[in-house]
Amino acid sequence: MARYFAQSVEGMPRRVCVICRWAWRKVEERLFEEYFRRWGLDTKGPDFDHQFDGTSDFVGYVPSPWRVLRTLWPAVGLEADDVLLEYGSGKGRVAIWVASRYPLRRIIGVEHNRDSIAAAQANLRNWRRPLRCQAVEFTYGEATEFVVPDDVTVVYLFNPFVGVTFNQVLAHLRASLARRPRPLRVIYLYPFMHDEIVKAGFTVVRSHEDVFYPWTVYAIG
Ligand SMILES: C[S@@+](CC[C@H](N)C(=O)[O-])C[C@H]1O[C@@H](n2cnc3c(N)ncnc32)[C@H](O)[C@@H]1O
Repeated sequence: MARYFAQSVEGMPRRVCVICRWAWRKVEERLFEEYFRRWGLDTKGPDFDHQFDGTSDFVGYVPSPWRVLRTLWPAVGLEADDVLLEYGSGKGRVAIWVASRYPLRRIIGVEHNRDSIAAAQANLRNWRRPLRCQAVEFTYGEATEFVVPDDVTVVYLFNPFVGVTFNQVLAHLRASLARRPRPLRVIYLYPFMHDEIVKAGFTVVRSHEDVFYPWTVYAIG
């Protein structure tokens, strides 16, 4: 069924195909949400916590779609000594999903919305399946003030912020690399600030084109 919508159907206008695919993904997302809720993970979104008046660098809580997690993370190739930092970890969907599948050294989520961080911590307590990575920590804080731990090897962003905030975060990553030089990968879902990250010295190692949710993996060091 999903494959049916993945390409244009002969004779059907492209716009109709795109609408059908979007509708199918919505249905699929609901089914996954229900499935994971049964295992204790309630990460439904979106929750927009402010007005879109053009003065803010961030968009509010929109969870990474389940479908994307299932294609993106296997393509990244995480290893047991990786340390994952997720900027804008929301209600914990990505961190807990990754922890349940990959035996990483540790996973850190940073989030500046108090309700979301409380939801993430509750989700971690309520999760009823084994965790391959036991060291999962959700930290309340502003990304621009968060000092990047020098053992972080993988960073995940689902377009959490843009503009000045994004550039300050890049500066924190560079500062951590200066303190302790090491390879670092950035996985960026919906890479709105692509040019800035390349300007900061990262190179593209993989790109996935998608009408709705493109993603890019960058590396440095
Ligand atoms: C698009 S959501 C992504 C949520 C989660 N990463 C996921 O993929 O399911 C972006 C998240 O970043 C958070 N955020 C935005 N700006 C932030 C900042 N400056 N510091 C910390 N968190 C921020 C928002 O509150 C929101 O939860």
